[in-house]
Amino acid sequence: MTVEPISPAEPVKDIPADIPADEETRAGNYFVSNYPPYAFWSQSRVDEANAAIDRAPAPGTPLGIYVHIPFCRKRCHFCYFKVYTDKNSTEVESYLDAAVQELSIYVQKPFIGARKPTFIYFGGGTPSYISSSQLTRLVDRMKALLPWDEAKEVAFECEPGTLTQGKLQAIKDLGVTRLSLGIENFNDEILLANGRAHASKEIGRAYDFARSIGFPQINIDLIAGMVGETEENWRDCVARTIEMQPDSVTIYQMEVPYNTTIFKEMKVFGQSVAPGVASWKTKRGWVEYAFAEMEKNGYTVASAYTAVKNTSPAPFLYRDLLWRGADMVGLGVASFSHVNGTHYQNDHEFESYCAKLGEGKLPLFRALTPNADERVIREFVLQMKLGCVRQAYFADKFGVDVERRFKAPLHRLRDWGFLTIGPDSLRLNRDGLLQVDKLLHEFFLPEHRQLPRA
Ligand SMILES: C[S@@+](CC[C@H](N)C(=O)[O-])C[C@H]1O[C@@H](n2cnc3c(N)ncnc32)[C@H](O)[C@@H]1O
Ligand code: SF4
Repeated sequence: MTVEPISPAEPVKDIPADIPADEETRAGNYFVSNYPPYAFWSQSRVDEANAAIDRAPAPGTPLGIYVHIPFCRKRCHFCYFKVYTDKNSTEVESYLDAAVQELSIYVQKPFIGARKPTFIYFGGGTPSYISSSQLTRLVDRMKALLPWDEAKEVAFECEPGTLTQGKLQAIKDLGVTRLSLGIENFNDEILLANGRAHASKEIGRAYDFARSIGFPQINIDLIAGMVGETEENWRDCVARTIEMQPDSVTIYQMEVPYNTTIFKEMKVFGQSVAPGVASWKTKRGWVEYAFAEMEKNGYTVASAYTAVKNTSPAPFLYRDLLWRGADMVGLGVASFSHVNGTHYQNDHEFESYCAKLGEGKLPLFRALTPNADERVIREFVLQMKLGCVRQAYFADKFGVDVERRFKAPLHRLRDWGFLTIGPDSLRLNRDGLLQVDKLLHEFFLPEHRQLPRA
């Protein structure tokens, strides 16, 4: 395939307001997790979600289930997820009842068809916060409604300090295949300064026991650039991670979204740059260092955020199927779903989420059905996070020549030195991969580069 030279009439780079152009870590959402952005989904389009749920599935589309467990021991200062630290056991129980009720409504809907879930993901919040008996009861009720016998992956997020041997065994007995530990850092001062509830001594204990009972896959989450991080400490975190030999490591670069404790403090003190958080350039350097060390030690970089061990080439179906257009039903407060081509999100208030389900109604809050072009952009930007996109996938699935469709942004990325355009694939180099979330905005439609007016 030939590549035409970039036209001098190409628009100059149009940096969205939310992107930290000056490289200091300022408040804002950096991570791209869906398209069109959530801010464009609307309450007035919830009927589209109802219609999608009432249609039969497209043949061959896998089905996944996401379960949001929104409870944590403490709210980490950097965290932007919908979480609660003040719910008592009765409230937790009614929440779990509501989530089961939600699934019981879904299983009667046409979009399920004859499908059983291919993947299940327990995310949060902290799924490991709830007790072993609550977990077992939740899963038994879910399986009774929609059996998991065809599930190829059951992923489960944990905060290390919530794990006892008994709970890990209970999690294993549920059929969890991919255990993910939110370690973030190994240094107690840094963990404390960032509001983490766990301490370093809990990490080894939880990991060793999880290993000993034979989870097929263990992933470790780290954050590069937590408040107070230093070069020396980061190197130590990388060395300790490699010593543990997890099947995969996920490394996020610290961002400071608007609803975090850090941002609230910045506002009080009139600060525009997050104090104690390294610049984007430094954080990229840290991830680059981590990836290089991991490659020297038998790991392969599999995406902008993950390295996987060569001897256990850990698949991650939740990510890979979702990024290729799978259906996924999100159970729980503020959960996101993607069904029959429509995106939607649940009610984001605990009480109204539970109340609506108590009345037997789905708690739908806002929705959007991407058009054909937006569907292509969605899969393209999500797959770009893997560092390599194959043109043939888009030609086969959508009948779209992505080199032509994305000619201008592809040429920009190439001319900036981040991308090569080959006959079969479009590949980001390491530098491009480590700032992919910033670069992805280049592929967005102009109307999605600025947030909508309230
Ligand atoms: C739902 S949490 C994982 C499970 C558990 N709640 C925990 O924190 O241990 C998902 C992951 O998102 C990452 N994360 C959360 N807030 C972040 C932020 N502001 N910047 C970068 N990564 C963040 C952390 O690595 C965290 O482990
Ligand atoms: S990072 Fe994890 S433990 Fe911390 S508040 Fe967020 S969801 Fe809870």
